[in-house]
Amino acid sequence: MLRMLIALLAPPLALVPSLVAGQFLTQFFNPVIPGFHPDPSCIYVSEDENFYCASSSFSAFPGIPIHASQDLTSWRLVGHALNRPSQLPDLAIANGSTSGIWAPTLRRHNGTYYLVTTLVHDKRAPDDPTRWDNIIFQTVDLWNSSAWSDAIHFPFEGYDTSPWWDGDGTSYIVGSHAHRVEPGIHLAKVDLDKGVVQEDWTNLWNGTGGLAPEGPHIYAKDGYHYLLIAEGGTGLGHMQTIARSKKLYGPYEVNPANPILTNANTTEYFQTVGHADLFQDAKGNWWGVALATRSGPEYVNYPMGRETVLTNVTWDNGSWPIFQNPIQGTMRGWQLPKIVQNLPGDGPFVTEGDVNIQFPPGSSMPPHFVHWRLPNEASYAISPPERPNTLRLKPSVLNLTGLDGNSGGPGGQTFVGRRQVDTLFTYSVTMDFHPTAADEEEAGVTLFLTQNHHARLGIVGRQNSTEPHFRFEAISSVPVPEGFTMPMPTAWQNSTTLRMQIQTANTTHFSFAAAPVGRDLVVVAYVPAAAVSWGFTGTLVGVYATGNGGDASTMAYVRDWDYRGWGQVRDGGYEVV
Ligand SMILES: *[C@@H]1O[C@H](CO)[C@@H](O)[C@H](O)[C@H]1NC(C)=O
Ligand SMILES: *[C@@H]1O[C@H](CO)[C@@H](O)[C@H](O)[C@H]1NC(C)=O
Ligand SMILES: *[C@@H]1O[C@H](CO)[C@@H](O)[C@H](O)[C@H]1NC(C)=O
Ligand SMILES: *[C@@H]1O[C@H](CO)[C@@H](O)[C@H](O)[C@H]1NC(C)=O
Ligand SMILES: *[C@@H]1O[C@H](CO)[C@@H](O)[C@H](O)[C@H]1NC(C)=O
Ligand SMILES: *[C@@H]1O[C@H](CO)[C@@H](O)[C@H](O)[C@H]1NC(C)=O
Ligand SMILES: *[C@@H]1O[C@H](CO)[C@@H](O)[C@H](O)[C@H]1NC(C)=O
Ligand SMILES: *[C@@H]1O[C@H](CO)[C@@H](O)[C@H](O)[C@H]1NC(C)=O
Ligand SMILES: *[C@@H]1O[C@H](CO)[C@@H](O)[C@H](O)[C@H]1NC(C)=O
Ligand SMILES: *[C@@H]1O[C@H](CO)[C@@H](O)[C@H](O)[C@H]1NC(C)=O
Ligand SMILES: *[C@@H]1O[C@H](CO)[C@@H](O)[C@H](O)[C@H]1NC(C)=O
Repeated sequence: MLRMLIALLAPPLALVPSLVAGQFLTQFFNPVIPGFHPDPSCIYVSEDENFYCASSSFSAFPGIPIHASQDLTSWRLVGHALNRPSQLPDLAIANGSTSGIWAPTLRRHNGTYYLVTTLVHDKRAPDDPTRWDNIIFQTVDLWNSSAWSDAIHFPFEGYDTSPWWDGDGTSYIVGSHAHRVEPGIHLAKVDLDKGVVQEDWTNLWNGTGGLAPEGPHIYAKDGYHYLLIAEGGTGLGHMQTIARSKKLYGPYEVNPANPILTNANTTEYFQTVGHADLFQDAKGNWWGVALATRSGPEYVNYPMGRETVLTNVTWDNGSWPIFQNPIQGTMRGWQLPKIVQNLPGDGPFVTEGDVNIQFPPGSSMPPHFVHWRLPNEASYAISPPERPNTLRLKPSVLNLTGLDGNSGGPGGQTFVGRRQVDTLFTYSVTMDFHPTAADEEEAGVTLFLTQNHHARLGIVGRQNSTEPHFRFEAISSVPVPEGFTMPMPTAWQNSTTLRMQIQTANTTHFSFAAAPVGRDLVVVAYVPAAAVSWGFTGTLVGVYATGNGGDASTMAYVRDWDYRGWGQVRDGGYEVV
């Protein structure tokens, strides 16, 4: 907490990475892919000189974002491996705030990209084999979203599955077996085209005794098979350990220097470091990515959740890899590839923000916008004929909480948002919504982590009143300000549109504000960041529309969608962008 205060009171340090095209640098800034981008898995592809990283998406759809970079510092959204509901219809029934897509592994073999992951039904019993739906996606063209295959399912009672090929091209999967008493890392030969497991699973290693040995990846190097795993759980005790064997099936020899990457038991601002992957750049230098949480050891305020961080690695012939520890906001590693910011593609760079998006005719949903589970397509229209240059939302029966805070429920939630990727930011939209028909019709803006951890400010109609009301609600596992529904100020009631805003008041609080377009915004409520610092996901900001349990037919129209970051707290100070 003290660190936070100092960070805010101190004059901004000149930490802005002034990336000049063509420069070579050794300094870089974590997180490299900020916001809700956990469990990174990355590769380098020499043909197009791109690094590609995939990350977990839980119930967000489109899911499994892939980012590309040529310089390891500026990352552009390429697309999503999971981009059509037909690829994985069961995402719709993934109950629970910790369910959905866990830890993908991205690999390329013989010209094909493989994305191996697990759809987890985390509410099902731990020993229910249907809790774990392991899947493989394939494509030959990462830049063409529709080229991704449907999910190929394979049986494995566990998660964090990762493919590996031996020198003959035989394919294997290594994963974290989810046995409650004997968790461990298991391997089997698997046909990746058919999803057929071709032999019994072999238990390779159980880790060094930490909680939840998981996130395994195999690398063949200098005659050894290296088995890199995470242990300690994905919280403050998270760490990375490694073992190796000349024979794939073991026995595995444990690195005496474990853990090889961790920020546990430190006072670093970056915590929970682990779930790493390794890759080499064009010069042969090794790099590691991992997830980390910007929370400090207090671990109270971390709304963006688990983000992607980078570190350099030394891996000499015949030796164990050595990660640069600890993970910090400002790092020095190997000479970065030449700064290149003209990657192909039209997805946004992760930190570029949204400047006044107008949803023009002929455009489609911006590629970085996400829903919670599979969207009901009829609930969203870009530039509808009756109101061009808006995003039209048709209210869902259920609100963002849904029936029980965990399931999608019939009809799901009308919601679309984007990730918070800056410690300090301002998000606002113009909302044109005039509830008339049914009681409890509501539309507004939300700071959304999960169905049971979010806050929202909406315009709502009440049956016994002709006046439009404001409603504020927050739900969390920690105390939140009490919700309220109150008539809008009389002077605002006849405005056709309202500006609605969510902003970071500081690093520990968000403010919700509104006013008729053109008037000064009035703060309606504050929400502590701790209310959305929980679980496995990271915050989204977006818009929603609902009938709060009843049918609703009044459309909401959104325009002037704007998200701008204005501060990134790393450590030792903050940077104003
Ligand atoms: C993208 O992939 C789809 C499905 O394989 C294919 O039909 C389409 O032609 C591809 N588009 C481009 C531009 O390659
Ligand atoms: C590599 O891919 C080609 C076609 O893309 C295929 O003919 C060949 O059998 C594959 N080789 C291996 C080792 O899988
Ligand atoms: C993992 O733990 C189980 C249960 O204690 C044990 O039976 C098994 O031999 C261990 N596996 C390895 C590879 O050490
Ligand atoms: C952190 O400290 C605790 C308590 O001493 C210890 O059990 C744990 O192994 C340590 N973790 C790491 C990664 O050093
Ligand atoms: C690594 O060392 C082994 C044994 O010393 C040797 O056979 C191999 O050629 C070396 N590899 C590289 C890439 O230097
Ligand atoms: C990381 O890179 C720096 C150079 O900036 C180097 O001094 C350091 O030894 C490297 N650390 C590891 C573990 O590779
Ligand atoms: C999800 O939860 C809902 C509501 O509690 C329940 O009706 C449904 O059966 C659950 N679905 C699955 C697949 O577990
Ligand atoms: C409308 O009715 C509800 C319950 O029937 C009541 O709580 C509320 O105060 C009423 N609102 C107004 C504005 O009269
Ligand atoms: C709002 O408009 C209605 C209908 O035109 C009018 O009767 C009412 O006085 C207006 N209210 C305010 C506060 O301007
Ligand atoms: C952050 O903002 C909230 C809401 O205005 C306020 O209560 C809190 O004291 C502020 N914290 C700091 C460190 O300024
Ligand atoms: C959400 O909608 C349900 C009805 O589906 C209602 O019971 C509940 O009060 C609503 N929650 C909030 C926070 O408004």
